[in-house]
Amino acid sequence: MNYQDVYDRSISDPEGFWRQEAAKLDWFKAPETILSRDEDGLDRWFAGGRLNMAHLALDYHVDHGRGGQTAIIHDSPVTGRQRHITYEELRDEVARFAGGLRALGVEHGDRVVIYMPMIPEALVAMLACARLGAIHSVVFGGFQPHELAVRIDDARPRALITASCGIEVSRVLPYKPLVDEALQVCQHPPTATVVLQRPECEATLHRNSATTRDFDWERLMKDASPVDPVPVDATHPLYVLYTSGTTGKPKGIVRDTGGYAVALNFSMDAIYNLDPGDVFWTASDVGWVVGHSYIVYAPLIHGCTTVVYEGKPVRTPDAGAFWRVIAEHRVKTFFTAPTAFRAIRKEDPDAALMTGYDLSSLQAIYLAGERLDPPTYGWIKDITGLPVIDHWWQTETGWAIAANPMGIEPHREKSGSAALPVPGYRITILDSQGTPQPPGRQGNIALGLPLPPGCLSTLWGDDDRFRLSYLNAFPGYYDTSDGGYIDEDGYLFVMGRMDDVINVAGHRLSTGEMEELIGHHPAVAECAVVGIADELKGEMPLGFVVLKEGQSIDPEALEKALMEVIRTKIGAIANLQAVAVVDKLPKTRSGKILRKSIRQLTQDRDVAVPATIEDPSSLDEIREALEFIKVGRYAS
Ligand code: COA
Ligand code: AMP
Repeated sequence: MNYQDVYDRSISDPEGFWRQEAAKLDWFKAPETILSRDEDGLDRWFAGGRLNMAHLALDYHVDHGRGGQTAIIHDSPVTGRQRHITYEELRDEVARFAGGLRALGVEHGDRVVIYMPMIPEALVAMLACARLGAIHSVVFGGFQPHELAVRIDDARPRALITASCGIEVSRVLPYKPLVDEALQVCQHPPTATVVLQRPECEATLHRNSATTRDFDWERLMKDASPVDPVPVDATHPLYVLYTSGTTGKPKGIVRDTGGYAVALNFSMDAIYNLDPGDVFWTASDVGWVVGHSYIVYAPLIHGCTTVVYEGKPVRTPDAGAFWRVIAEHRVKTFFTAPTAFRAIRKEDPDAALMTGYDLSSLQAIYLAGERLDPPTYGWIKDITGLPVIDHWWQTETGWAIAANPMGIEPHREKSGSAALPVPGYRITILDSQGTPQPPGRQGNIALGLPLPPGCLSTLWGDDDRFRLSYLNAFPGYYDTSDGGYIDEDGYLFVMGRMDDVINVAGHRLSTGEMEELIGHHPAVAECAVVGIADELKGEMPLGFVVLKEGQSIDPEALEKALMEVIRTKIGAIANLQAVAVVDKLPKTRSGKILRKSIRQLTQDRDVAVPATIEDPSSLDEIREALEFIKVGRYAS
């Protein structure tokens, strides 16, 4: 197949193109309308079609002879356990758990928050919600009670599903106390909490708490009757997934059912070049979009075997862990974040730990979540000799915007580039006025409307914020908030965020939220948090604070306290690297903090002084603080 032909058809005749892709799925009612606009002016895919995601992912395969195939391989070096679950077993478990949820009052349209580690039951919980037409909202297990509570209050779930603990390398992390704390502080607690007890840690269940009642997973399963998939509208939300925006309030990305199913199924052929029966491993977490799409839904819809890995690239037990899993389970396609390979390279620069593993099943390695920096790209390429595919996407889009279309027509790889627009996406580089830019010129990366199927349909309960965040900056386009350029060959280079979102070890975090939390400290008058480049994690947050008049707190004690605030309010993943006290922050004459200048100073001490700056000496202060941080902390 010729990529250009496929791509051109997706743009010139989107309805014909996606009608054909939709026909590959088993709908309860096939869609007649392909693309439409609802009364609020928002684009919708396949309105009128009816389907069920759990049916596509499970029942369809069982009914078509795939019941005995392994659907999930759970590989858990942190517990020393492995489990293989067939499509039929998974279908039965999901149907029964859906019955358990129904017995708790969960029905079509209700929200269910899922806060679980990387265990098959996390997938069972998600698929059980999908079976009922309930809307799941998975919260990453590394988030602290404050983050969980914020999401609960926005989603207002009927039930919450959790496990007694997660395991970080060898540390058992009890989840239930975190859930209890979140339920104490939130305004809209669910009426039921379901707890899966793991052998590593027994959670205390509260039968009659004031806010919510706890239920044991096993008990619920024993008493439940299996339920059949409930047909839902194609536009019905499958899930709400919260992601960091520029403010403290995360954005609830709403994903529809029909468009998402069609897009994911298409991507498995076009981007990942996978056939039913192949083994696909995405080393990420179900708490992130990559996990939703490529640990859970896409591999199962496509009839593949998905690996659910509860471990790290290093330390479980060593930097050979990925090679062991690939060899042992005959993985064909592997997907992870570049930071994972940087962690492996640091421990095992010569890839000595690859030796002895039969990696002949592996055909390609996919990377996303942050930019695949050329040194990391070169290292992976050298040690594997395989296609190394950088592809660019966001929680909002749900699947790749730019990629090397391996299943259509593999293209030459270019180090540092996420390659070509995926069929359905119209990628344009715009300057700040919205004028399209020629090849080679950097600008805002925007996507022409309508977006293809699978992308967000709105923000949960907030159409206005959806328009404001994504549609208003450049009329007729979706604003990705990423910056970059397209070269003469049409290859896209994504260079980084244009807003206050940073990427720490593939985790998307908001510096605005960190500023809000730091700003609550009694000694702090104002602050700025920016991301600084980090060799291992890509970026790390760095804080600058101005003290209130008359405050004379020891800077080191303050730094320690603020690091703890970020750790306990957001989570250990946020990893505030250092805090410097300064007399003033660089600001414009109208009082806006010049975060971009601070960011530039972290990379290059000789930045140009912006014309709008109120006091140029404030930049010298930041420079001095950075020198101190460098000498005091990073020099060794
Ligand atoms: N639950 C609880 N704590 C967690 C956690 C979780 N699920 N995940 C991470 N943490 C903790 C870690 O234990 C660590 O704690 P510590 O500071 O007390 O030691 C801290 O958060 C920092 O974690 P992280 O920065 O993730 O480092 P790591 O060494 O634990 O893991 C990677 C390194 C590369 C494996 C990990 O960052 C990773 O998988 N990143 C990719 C993320 C991703 O998949 N993004 C989606 C796009 S593909
Ligand atoms: P998330 O929503 O957590 O998936 O994060 C999305 C953001 O991560 C994007 O807006 C980019 O800034 C960054 N990102 C993801 N994949 C890539 C990639 N392949 N290249 C460059 N940046 C990426």
